[in-house]
Amino acid sequence: MRNTAKFLLKLVFLLTLALPWLNHHLHKANASSNDTDRIALLKFREAMAMDPYGVFESWNRSIHVCNWLGVTCSRRHQRVTSLFLTGRKLVGHLSPYIGNLSFLVSINLENNSLSGEIPATIGNLFRLQELNFANNTITGGIPRSLTNCTQLRALNLSTNNIAGKIPVDIDSLMQLEVFRINSNNITGEIPASMGNLSFLNYFAARFNNLEGNIPCELGRSNRLSIVGLTYNLLSGILPPSFLNLSAITIMTISYNRLYGSLPGSFGSTLPNLQVFANSGNNFSGPIPSSLSNASQLYAVSFSYNNFVGSVPNLARSQALWALDVQGNNLGNNSANDLEFLTPLANCSNLVKLYVQKNNFGGSFPESAANLSAKLNQFYAGDNHITGLIPQGLENLVSLSALDLSNNLFTGEIPSNLGMFPNLQILYLGRNELSGTIPSSIGNLTQLFELNISYNNLTGTIPSSITSITRLNSFDASQNRLSGNIAPEILRMSSLSKILDLSGNLLSGPLHSDVGQLRGLGTIRISDNNLTGEIPRAIGDCRSLEFLYLQGNSFQGNIPPTLASLKGLQRLDLSRNNLTGGIPPSLQAIPFLQYFNISFNPLEGEVPTQGVFANASAVSFSASNKLCGGIPEFHLPNCSKAKTNKGKISYKLKLTVIIVCVLAVLLSASGILILYMMRRSKSKNKPTTVSDTLKHLLKVSYQDLYKATEGFSSENLVGSGSFGFVYKGILDELGRKIAVKVLNLQQKGVSKSLLAECNVLRNVQHRNLVSVLTYCSSLDYKGHEFKALVFEFMPNGSLERWLHKNVDNNSGSHQYHVATSLSLSQRLNIAIDVAQLYIISMI
Ligand SMILES: *[C@@H]1O[C@H](CO)[C@@H](O)[C@H](O)[C@H]1NC(C)=O
Ligand SMILES: *[C@@H]1O[C@H](CO)[C@@H](O)[C@H](O)[C@H]1NC(C)=O
Ligand SMILES: *[C@@H]1O[C@H](CO)[C@@H](O)[C@H](O)[C@H]1NC(C)=O
Ligand SMILES: *[C@@H]1O[C@H](CO)[C@@H](O)[C@H](O)[C@H]1NC(C)=O
Ligand SMILES: *[C@@H]1O[C@H](CO)[C@@H](O)[C@H](O)[C@H]1NC(C)=O
Ligand SMILES: *[C@@H]1O[C@H](CO)[C@@H](O)[C@H](O)[C@H]1NC(C)=O
Ligand SMILES: *[C@@H]1O[C@H](CO)[C@@H](O)[C@H](O)[C@H]1NC(C)=O
Ligand SMILES: *[C@@H]1O[C@H](CO)[C@@H](O)[C@H](O)[C@H]1NC(C)=O
Ligand SMILES: *[C@@H]1O[C@H](CO)[C@@H](O)[C@H](O)[C@H]1NC(C)=O
Ligand SMILES: *[C@@H]1O[C@H](CO)[C@@H](O)[C@H](O)[C@H]1NC(C)=O
Ligand SMILES: *[C@@H]1O[C@H](CO)[C@@H](O)[C@H](O)[C@H]1NC(C)=O
Ligand SMILES: *[C@@H]1O[C@H](CO)[C@@H](O)[C@H](O)[C@H]1NC(C)=O
Repeated sequence: MRNTAKFLLKLVFLLTLALPWLNHHLHKANASSNDTDRIALLKFREAMAMDPYGVFESWNRSIHVCNWLGVTCSRRHQRVTSLFLTGRKLVGHLSPYIGNLSFLVSINLENNSLSGEIPATIGNLFRLQELNFANNTITGGIPRSLTNCTQLRALNLSTNNIAGKIPVDIDSLMQLEVFRINSNNITGEIPASMGNLSFLNYFAARFNNLEGNIPCELGRSNRLSIVGLTYNLLSGILPPSFLNLSAITIMTISYNRLYGSLPGSFGSTLPNLQVFANSGNNFSGPIPSSLSNASQLYAVSFSYNNFVGSVPNLARSQALWALDVQGNNLGNNSANDLEFLTPLANCSNLVKLYVQKNNFGGSFPESAANLSAKLNQFYAGDNHITGLIPQGLENLVSLSALDLSNNLFTGEIPSNLGMFPNLQILYLGRNELSGTIPSSIGNLTQLFELNISYNNLTGTIPSSITSITRLNSFDASQNRLSGNIAPEILRMSSLSKILDLSGNLLSGPLHSDVGQLRGLGTIRISDNNLTGEIPRAIGDCRSLEFLYLQGNSFQGNIPPTLASLKGLQRLDLSRNNLTGGIPPSLQAIPFLQYFNISFNPLEGEVPTQGVFANASAVSFSASNKLCGGIPEFHLPNCSKAKTNKGKISYKLKLTVIIVCVLAVLLSASGILILYMMRRSKSKNKPTTVSDTLKHLLKVSYQDLYKATEGFSSENLVGSGSFGFVYKGILDELGRKIAVKVLNLQQKGVSKSLLAECNVLRNVQHRNLVSVLTYCSSLDYKGHEFKALVFEFMPNGSLERWLHKNVDNNSGSHQYHVATSLSLSQRLNIAIDVAQLYIISMI
């Protein structure tokens, strides 16, 4: 037996040695045709419009073809066997002459900017084993002729703009091991013939528009180890044969339209499974308990389906790093629902645990304290969990995010909650917590988001909260907190997203230190028992977009300084005791869409411009003594009688006449000047917002995708409710840019794009940088995509823009460094989430 095997091996070896010799003789006639290669390569070069790195400098007559940069030849024939030019920023298209490089075995042009179609002559390269055009901007389809390259082992066309279908005769590529077409616009079905590719090991087609079923024939590719189909339009059930592919290590099928239930044998038939991403489909039934047999599991997601029942025992999956079952119907709202946490204590590498948005009831088992000390994110919100928040959680020293919101937790906030040295996000809102806010909360110095709203908390807001120097969002609304709003809280310059203390029993005046909240977007202190005047300093809160002061006992006048809040969108002053008139300056707030001053004893004239021009944007109900305004308000006319009171002296009459004459002269000349300015302006200067936008260079999604290296986490420099900010280099402009990608799930973002352009144009906001251009198009998934492109100024105004809190006075260098550190830490969570996402994307 052994000897036979040895003999066979020798034979194969000898044959391998003999092959080049055979080749040589078969192609003797062509042996001197190395000129063909030279011509073909020169044509290849000719089709390149840009070569910024000077790759082709060596491609000249005085140098032998085989010594040209990126070219490798066979030793014997001096024929080109490999062309390797990756990441050279080449711009151009692919010459059909490429098909004349008939000895080519490998061509790799990854990470360039090649456009146009793949020439059909590629099919002449019958020796080709590796073809990698990934990360270009190639269009057209996968050429039919490619199926003539029967030696092909690795085909990578990922991240291009390739459309059309996977060729049905793809199975001509009998040797194919790697087939990657991620991030294109490939449509149609996965051809059943792919099941004939018996060497296929890696099939990645995420981010396309593939539709139809996953063919059961794919179950014949029994070497298939990695399959990525995330983000397509695949439907139907998972064929059993597909789930019998025991070689599978990574299977990602998230965000399709798949349904059905997973077979009971699921974990047993996929014993090598490491990553299983099945989010955002329509699966139902239980998560098979056989999953416990997949002992290699590393990351597993069943989120956003309709799974029911319990979470299997995963104690054997020692390597488990992430478990995500959020957004299902798991649990029965009963006492033992959370028992699955107990065996998870064995998974000492568990870092991410997402069980939120299910039907889990009962209380936390004590064993929750034994979860991995590496646990970094624990989301359990939106369930029906009862009982106390266990003290033992303090063992989870690595936690950076803890979400227990929207459950039925009772008792007090445990005072040892201050023991999490790394906690950045703490959500305890919408429970039945009572007692006071423990002062130890100030120990959570890394915290940047704190939500304890909708509980039954009493007492004052502890002043220790000001030790949380990174807090950017604080929501303690709808509790029974009392006492004053301490001025120190209003001096927390890190607050940038929201300060919500509404619906409490807070009393006393609003201190003028509120003006220190220069970076804050939303202040909501409505429905308390606040008194005194609204401080004029509120006009210093330059970043405010939403200001809610209704339902208090504020008195005095509406401060005219509110007009300084150029970004203000909603302003509610209703149900107070405000007197005096409406300051006419409020007409100048450009994007105010909602202004409520009902139930205040205001008087005087209602202006007619700005927000006051829109009857549905302003509420006055039950405010008495107001007059004027646009007719839709149906307010009484303001009587002009006041000015005519008494007799006018001769002197005054004279002054009036002189002033009138001067005014007429001035306005006449003014009109003339304006007219002349308009004339010169209208020639080259844009006048409206849309004109401004048209005027700017328009960039495409693809441009920005390239510029930010696919919106990579390395380039992520900031995030917020608006979306994300990436840095990048926009080739056409050659400039460093910051791309602010707007989160379109957020309501009203389309409007805010225009609004922002407008603000940027109209307002010299000290924290904003100049906008270069904008992008409004469709992303690779065909979803709406909007982004603003700013000039990127490292450590400059962009940084400041991201940390609106950096004050000029304290803007020492160290302070800057400190804030950027905190930024990167803040981003940890976002990036970690992205990591899981990336894993599910392979
Ligand atoms: C063509 O090949 C011959 C030997 O086969 C070699 O001497 C000659 O330099 C080659 N010419 C070019 C242009 O590569
Ligand atoms: C050919 O390329 C080499 C290497 O870049 C360069 O040194 C040489 O000057 C070039 N010759 C010509 C004729 O351009
Ligand atoms: C090479 O390819 C081109 C275009 O595909 C073709 O026109 C030409 O005849 C081919 N042969 C040689 C020897 O260049
Ligand atoms: C695409 O190529 C560019 C260079 O052209 C590179 O910077 C970028 O990281 C690449 N993107 C991916 C996803 O490989
Ligand atoms: C392409 O760019 C990406 C991102 O910069 C890099 O990870 C990858 O190694 C590059 N590919 C090649 C073949 O150089
Ligand atoms: C594949 O090659 C054969 C023979 O070389 C040719 O007849 C056929 O047209 C080619 N197929 C395609 C799709 O180019
Ligand atoms: C393309 O596939 C090759 C393997 O064939 C791999 O090395 C490379 O990283 C892949 N590139 C992309 C962008 O998928
Ligand atoms: C936490 O805060 C409490 C009260 O504010 C304090 O006494 C204690 O020393 C702090 N613990 C740590 C570990 O900082
Ligand atoms: C809040 O606490 C009060 C008294 O402590 C109690 O009467 C009330 O029911 C509680 N409310 C909730 C929602 O738990
Ligand atoms: C509001 O404050 C006043 C006096 O400051 C007090 O009389 C009143 O009871 C308070 N209202 C509530 C609801 O606490
Ligand atoms: C409203 O303010 C006036 C003084 O400006 C005061 O006399 C009156 O009591 C206040 N009304 C309420 C309900 O607080
Ligand atoms: C993808 O292809 C579909 C159908 O051919 C087309 O409607 C859509 O615009 C394409 N999307 C992109 C981003 O090219």
